[in-house]
Amino acid sequence: MSLFKISPWDLVKKKGVEKIVGITAYDYISARVCEEAGMDFILIGDSASMVILGHPDTFPITMEEMLVFCQAVSRGAPNTLRIGDMPFMSYQISPEQAIYNAGRLVKEGRCHGVKVEGGFEVVPIVRSIVKAGIPVLAHIGVTPQRSMELGGLKVRGKDFDTAKTLLEEALALEEAGAFALILECVPSELSRLITEKLKIPTIGIGAGPFTDGQILVFHDICGLYPEMRPKFVKNYLKGFELFKEALETYKREVKEGLFPEEKHSFKINPEILERLKND
Ligand code: KIV
Repeated sequence: MSLFKISPWDLVKKKGVEKIVGITAYDYISARVCEEAGMDFILIGDSASMVILGHPDTFPITMEEMLVFCQAVSRGAPNTLRIGDMPFMSYQISPEQAIYNAGRLVKEGRCHGVKVEGGFEVVPIVRSIVKAGIPVLAHIGVTPQRSMELGGLKVRGKDFDTAKTLLEEALALEEAGAFALILECVPSELSRLITEKLKIPTIGIGAGPFTDGQILVFHDICGLYPEMRPKFVKNYLKGFELFKEALETYKREVKEGLFPEEKHSFKINPEILERLKND
């Protein structure tokens, strides 16, 4: 499916008309489920660093690893808007580096746009990527790639100065050409104010009910990542427990000789078997 048949600007048209539903997914099968469930867009998030690769944070994931996940999702969800996350140090060095790596997520990863974390400091970078013809999803509030500087992953925008900065950053990122804005862990009423001030849609995660859309991670929705259970996640399935139960049953059945049954096995002509035995 040609990339240009799906446009991030279709999301922009939904603002004020219908809620936008996004999901973070990383592989072929989960992308297929997301497409069949009718998600408005899939983010191939750098949270893959933790959820898929088992790192304690998002810093170690590389461009090469992100590209593999983007390609898998593009094969599983060819008809869904796909946004590739720019990993740590793939865009911070210079606008040239940012354009080059954003281009790789489009050319090699078959994404329709890229996500960049950060506020004022990434405005020139967002502008450069957009100028190169690549749509950008901006991301402010809690930005895990800046967690060293922010002192962790705490809710942002509770005090006047931080709230004002977030509002001004949102406006600056819109002006730089971002097609939408993720608000992560921001108080609900601040998200409402930012949503009202922007022409582009806001997508919330831990940002309350007033944003133009929501995003959650596939593995969190399905209960497959028990290490972290943030307050803002709604768990729709006890995936980890269900998978574990299935594997325990498989183990027990093999040990007890209950699996495989005849219906899982292949037959050989008895005459051939007889010949083999007597050979
Ligand atoms: O990497 C990711 O999955 C994200 C979302 C949580 C917004 O950045």
